[in-house]
Amino acid sequence: MRARAAVLTEVKKPLEIWDLDVDLPKEGEVLVRVAAAGVCHSDLHYIQGDLTTVLPAVPGHEGAGIVEAVGPGVTRFQPGDHVLFVFRAFCGRCFYCLNGRPALCDFSNPLRRTGRMFDGTTRFHRDGQDVHHILGVSCFAEYTVVPEQGLLKLPDDIPLDRAALVGCGVTTGVGAVLFAAGVQPGDSVAVIGCGGVGLNVVQGAALAGAGPVIAVDVVPQKLEWAKQLGATHVVNAREHDPLDAIRSLTEGRGADYTFEVIGRVDTIQQAYEATRKGGTTVIVGLTPQGSVLPLDPLDLLRAEKTIKATLYGTANLPRDIPRLLELYRLGRLKLDELISRRLRLEQINEGFEAMLAGSVARSIVVFDS
Ligand code: APR
Ligand code: ZN
Repeated sequence: MRARAAVLTEVKKPLEIWDLDVDLPKEGEVLVRVAAAGVCHSDLHYIQGDLTTVLPAVPGHEGAGIVEAVGPGVTRFQPGDHVLFVFRAFCGRCFYCLNGRPALCDFSNPLRRTGRMFDGTTRFHRDGQDVHHILGVSCFAEYTVVPEQGLLKLPDDIPLDRAALVGCGVTTGVGAVLFAAGVQPGDSVAVIGCGGVGLNVVQGAALAGAGPVIAVDVVPQKLEWAKQLGATHVVNAREHDPLDAIRSLTEGRGADYTFEVIGRVDTIQQAYEATRKGGTTVIVGLTPQGSVLPLDPLDLLRAEKTIKATLYGTANLPRDIPRLLELYRLGRLKLDELISRRLRLEQINEGFEAMLAGSVARSIVVFDS
């Protein structure tokens, strides 16, 4: 089968639209017709070379679609099912899966390391050349093949473009607050970086009943969106020192919880400084591979702070994703508001440009149905 896809051929170059040959799914695999794919900063990390992967490859890890065909041995899915991609395919049987932490499952490590399926081959090709997978999802393509462990079934009543966001940004951001930090009503929260993921940290804090919820960004429009999603105070870091602002809004102490949602060492340090004694700094952003965080352990000890990192919102994916979708149905979780722009696949590089320019919360690629 043929499919158009956005392909990363070389780092620091725009994605190219290629016509690919897509193989039928093999044992345990599923062919999915992609309906929508969010443009997430983690894809940009691959494009910029901050995270490395085997090239050429098809990025895209936040998406939803409809099952087109299943390979031998697949029992959980059938053609026509609406599905969400999870970018950490999990086995469901290991220590981490059985303890509610599927994102820590090692099952999909070979996939991520090699950019190939478990049998060592790829399902994408052009002119006989292999085109690789990224994170076992690769949903910047009309069709993709994934292991069945990398899919969750979606209810039919949730629009696929809205659902797509739950595959990464929403679960990562809301989960950081609810599942990783366990923020309680009345806790003070500061969020540094209010992009596609950070805005979800803000809405997670609002859902948890936190207050104040202090949103920090350098782009005024992001701060406007943060207010709509539940921030009680906003700080433009270009105009005010976030540390001073956060302290003055928390009786000089610093926030109970600070979240870094950019992926920079200097802003992680800023979040740490803005955390009160005994409070918790939560790292959500992905720093470039090989970054080092300078930290004075004596200060950490004397201030008894906790530094916590969260992967995929620390979510128990098969339990928590349906819960988040239910919150959307009930009108308590905002998804429609997060989509600033819908793009055709050919416009995908504009999505990354808009992200860099700060003009979107999320852009989403929608495929013709
Ligand atoms: N202070 C405050 N905000 C900043 C600063 C700064 N010094 N520098 C950048 N920002 C803001 C940007 O204006 C933007 O709103 O950080 C936000 C980053 O958001 P996006 O680019 O939309 O990225 P997002 O998809 O939200 O991902 C954020 O989380 O999952 C990880 O890999 C992802 O590392 C990335 C991070
Ligand atoms: Zn993502």
